[in-house]
Amino acid sequence: MSRIYNFAAGPAVLPLEVLQEAQKNLVDYKGCGMSVMEMSHRGKDYDAIHQEAIATFKELCGLNDDWAVCFIQGGASLQFAMIPLNFLGKDQVADYVKSGTWGGKAVKEAQKIGTVNIAADCQKDIPTRQPDADEFKWTPGAVYSHICTNETISGAEIKEIPETGSPLIGDMSSDILSCPRDYTKFTMFYAGAQKNLGPSGMAVVAIRKEFAEKGNASLPTMLQYRTFVDENSLYNTPPTWGIYIFGETMKWVKKMGKENLFKLNAEKAKKIYDVIDSTEFYRGTAKKEFRSNMNVTWRLPTEELEAQFVAEAKKLGMGSLKGHRSVGGIRASIYNAFPMEGVDALVAFMKDFEKKNG
Ligand SMILES: Cc1ncc(COP(=O)(O)O)c(C=O)c1O
Repeated sequence: MSRIYNFAAGPAVLPLEVLQEAQKNLVDYKGCGMSVMEMSHRGKDYDAIHQEAIATFKELCGLNDDWAVCFIQGGASLQFAMIPLNFLGKDQVADYVKSGTWGGKAVKEAQKIGTVNIAADCQKDIPTRQPDADEFKWTPGAVYSHICTNETISGAEIKEIPETGSPLIGDMSSDILSCPRDYTKFTMFYAGAQKNLGPSGMAVVAIRKEFAEKGNASLPTMLQYRTFVDENSLYNTPPTWGIYIFGETMKWVKKMGKENLFKLNAEKAKKIYDVIDSTEFYRGTAKKEFRSNMNVTWRLPTEELEAQFVAEAKKLGMGSLKGHRSVGGIRASIYNAFPMEGVDALVAFMKDFEKKNG
């Protein structure tokens, strides 16, 4: 086995068990005589995969029948546009939080469609952070409010979900099912699948059915949430393989025990933050109270040392530690499937690197 410790932000590491199960079934899915990739999305074998994936996800998030789970191509980025297209009408206002690159991108798309109030803005702050609870300025009567619960690039995560006074929508692309959250506080939440959920190629969107019904009915069919809700994401041909791996990944989360995973996630992140805090050599990028347990970000004294750190780690089998091109530095993405041994290897390397170069 020659798998590396993959610290990539997304597409990212998937549970090895899930990959092996998929490999086992790749050419002949459980005796069907064909791959999941080859079967009709209208047939009973695929239907069972589709329904189970949705049911497992709903169970893990604690969602009842008021909710629909949709698989929508175009990633989380299309959600930035679909949300205002559906819900932000003329003479209406939506509240948005600019908490980083992704929150900012959501704002840009919404501004193309309608009136946006920036409820809080810390997009450019260094150390990176999320807004403090008393900083938000919500608009009475806003049609919805939008937050990004974890800014993947800056490594800043919301710890307390704010009370916004309007239907709350969350971009949870990089921290969905990674820590305890009350998902029912939201009216809708979504995630690009390629981090904690499965392969890239779709967003998983959970939406209250009643809210989906309020969407703009004059949009093209494939841009309306109600199409995905009413047709159970089978109006067109869905990304069947991605949905299969998503379902397997959800079963893996269930098997591991989500509370157990949440605890492990906190422990993994703490090990890295403890090294950062033990020295002046490493500087955490995010403000302590908003530190992400999924994307740990930090700097070294110089960009040359950062490049050297990434290159030497790579030689030791630790890949994709380079920070996002827009901010530099180092980023260790340690999603649910990232193993503790990989964190231990990184921590040992960080200590050794400082000894030699500090
Ligand atoms: C928080 C967040 N939102 C949105 C996106 C965009 O996702 P996609 O590439 O699926 O469009 C990303 C991608 O990394 C992300 O991390």
